Amino acid sequence: MRSVRPATTDDLAAVTALDAALFPDEPWDLPAWQGLLDTAGRRLLVAADDADRPVGYALTGLVGDFAELLRIAADPTVRRRGVATALLARACAEARSNGAERLLLEVGEANTGARALYAAAGFVEIDRRPRYYRDGSAALVLERALAFDTHTSGRMDP
Ligand SMILES: CC(C)(COP(=O)(O)OP(=O)(O)OC[C@H]1O[C@@H](n2cnc3c(N)ncnc32)[C@H](O)[C@@H]1OP(=O)(O)O)[C@@H](O)C(=O)NCCC(=O)NCCS
Repeated sequence: MRSVRPATTDDLAAVTALDAALFPDEPWDLPAWQGLLDTAGRRLLVAADDADRPVGYALTGLVGDFAELLRIAADPTVRRRGVATALLARACAEARSNGAERLLLEVGEANTGARALYAAAGFVEIDRRPRYYRDGSAALVLERALAFDTHTSGRMDP
């Protein structure tokens, strides 16, 4: 991975292809991704390889004083090399600088890989939603604080 950067329109074909492969039950098509790219409060980041091609992506949405992680994925050919961790760190830093105090996300209870990623990044479970997904499985709602409270000085690292 060479960099994590904001997505451009040129990245969307690659993001759409990754999304179709990794989220086959709920993929977003190219016009949907273009719409998300153009929506205020939404932020699409890509992790790019040495040829500057997207090998991972993360989508966040800002909702007042918190942000939501709506999608995160890494190409199977580059897994366990820190791609998602780098995307998550940048997403947290950007959300914090845009005024968010917390980042929330939903993850399938059976998605052990993603749950391990989030645990390593400091997320904690705050809710469980039974029968949340189309196949009847449950979702966990996780949260990570992006700023210390008033008892502390300074802010957390991304
Ligand atoms: C989950 C996902 C985004 C992780 O991407 P990644 O780039 O491989 O993650 P990282 O390399 O940054 O992993 C960081 C840490 O998370 C944990 N982790 C990540 N994937 C894991 C897995 N499959 N099994 C166990 N632990 C895992 C490990 O602690 C890992 O550190 P380590 O490799 O030093 O042990 C990727 O597997 C993916 O795209 N999955 C399909 C889409 C998906 O489920 N997205 C999340 C929806 S909520």
